[in-house]
Amino acid sequence: MADNKQQANIGVVGLAVMGSNLARNLASRDGNTVAVYNRTYARTQELMDEHGDMGFIASETIDDFVASLSKPRTAIIMVQAGKGTDAVIGQLAERFEEGDIIVDGGNANFHDTIRREHELREKGLNFVGTGISGGEEGALKGPSIMPGGSAEAWETLGPILKSIAAVAEGEPCVTHIGTDGAGHFVKMVHNGIEYADMQLIAESYDLLRRVGGHSTEELVSIFERWNDGDLESYLIEITAEVLKQKDADTGKPLVDVIRDEAGSKGTGVWTVQNAVGLGIPVSGIGEAVFARAVSSKPEQRAAVQKTVTSRPEIPSVPDSFEDDVRAALYASKVVAYAQGFDLIIAGAKEYDWDINLGNVAKIWRGGCIIRAQFLNRIVEAYDKNPDLPSLLVDPYFAKAVAEGEAAWRRIVGIAAASGIPAPGFSSALAYFDSLASDRLPASLIQGQRDFFGAHTYGRIDKPGTFHTMWSEDRREVEQEPSTH
Ligand code: 6PG
Repeated sequence: MADNKQQANIGVVGLAVMGSNLARNLASRDGNTVAVYNRTYARTQELMDEHGDMGFIASETIDDFVASLSKPRTAIIMVQAGKGTDAVIGQLAERFEEGDIIVDGGNANFHDTIRREHELREKGLNFVGTGISGGEEGALKGPSIMPGGSAEAWETLGPILKSIAAVAEGEPCVTHIGTDGAGHFVKMVHNGIEYADMQLIAESYDLLRRVGGHSTEELVSIFERWNDGDLESYLIEITAEVLKQKDADTGKPLVDVIRDEAGSKGTGVWTVQNAVGLGIPVSGIGEAVFARAVSSKPEQRAAVQKTVTSRPEIPSVPDSFEDDVRAALYASKVVAYAQGFDLIIAGAKEYDWDINLGNVAKIWRGGCIIRAQFLNRIVEAYDKNPDLPSLLVDPYFAKAVAEGEAAWRRIVGIAAASGIPAPGFSSALAYFDSLASDRLPASLIQGQRDFFGAHTYGRIDKPGTFHTMWSEDRREVEQEPSTH
């Protein structure tokens, strides 16, 4: 083995497709010399056989890999999030020295990233949990990258990540999100928004197909047309591609022979779990997670279908139906992103991160799965007012929702009347109506809670905390706020 001492400015551990593609992306950029290592050397050999002309420094052992890195040693771990991550971190931590940088590019849970960063900081090492979005193609050609970790680590890592990130509006789609787990937190929210976006597109497809009566071929044209407008996005683009695909065996549209049971690697679930804990209603993301769960219960679905004797007649729809669906999709998308950004704000407050929302929107404009023209509008919204109480308050989005509101209501009504499940559209509308209502039935809930639990309530006509003596003479008494 040649003496590869300290020649590589960046290393990649884990050479499955994502890792190999990231290594190739790194090696293709001026100024990078890339060290590569995989527990099974055969995988490393494969990369060298296919792309040996990219100047990789390949090592068979972790010791040689570490020795081939120039200081501050910087290695990106690209293994399936979980126990494997801790194992590789341990191997590197044993061999790295003060100031060196370990980067986790997997979809790790940000709680694990916070723990790991604090543990490694004790040893003088930098740990950077980094969201990398865009799948295998993004890793190769330019992902959106969401690093956390220390400012010290960003000094070394930033230029390297900027050399490989996607570029949108002339800017690299990478920014230092914030300290310790901030990067993985924002990637988690990205994935949650991705779930919501995909669910809304799926509901649009279902309504256009089952209520609008469109053939799959016609649906391809509709989504391609939508991709030329303000819904332009990677997810709309690939929807048209998926719908265009014919099944080789049957000649039918592939989508018609795919089982209607959606999987999930779990990042959407994390988003909802953490949002509930932080008191942020991410109903759009939640309904998307639940819709995947419902779809994945074929036995329960079959049992209910056996008991249902009839399904609603599909009503005739107005000529505006296609555009109404598009308007409902756009308005519901605004809600989903508004909720996602609310969650980022809450996470930053809870975990003491200084997250620039405009910069998050900027780096989501390219490379990632939710990349879309729409994100330029969010950048503009936060540029105008970084302290927006909700994206729904931004004048551009407020106007867009107002213009689409009537259509949105029509679509939610038609879906309900038709028996077509549209949890994304309807929950988004309910969220909007909840915020827009000057009086909510939460007053009755407060009365109920006070009745059975003496949990107290406030009054609209005077300050203070009150309780009614429901089981006695029902007089109202002023009390200290309930702590339970
Ligand atoms: C990305 C994607 C990716 C996602 C997987 C699995 O940003 O490139 O979000 O990280 O986690 O595609 O997604 P599911 O959770 O739907 O299985």
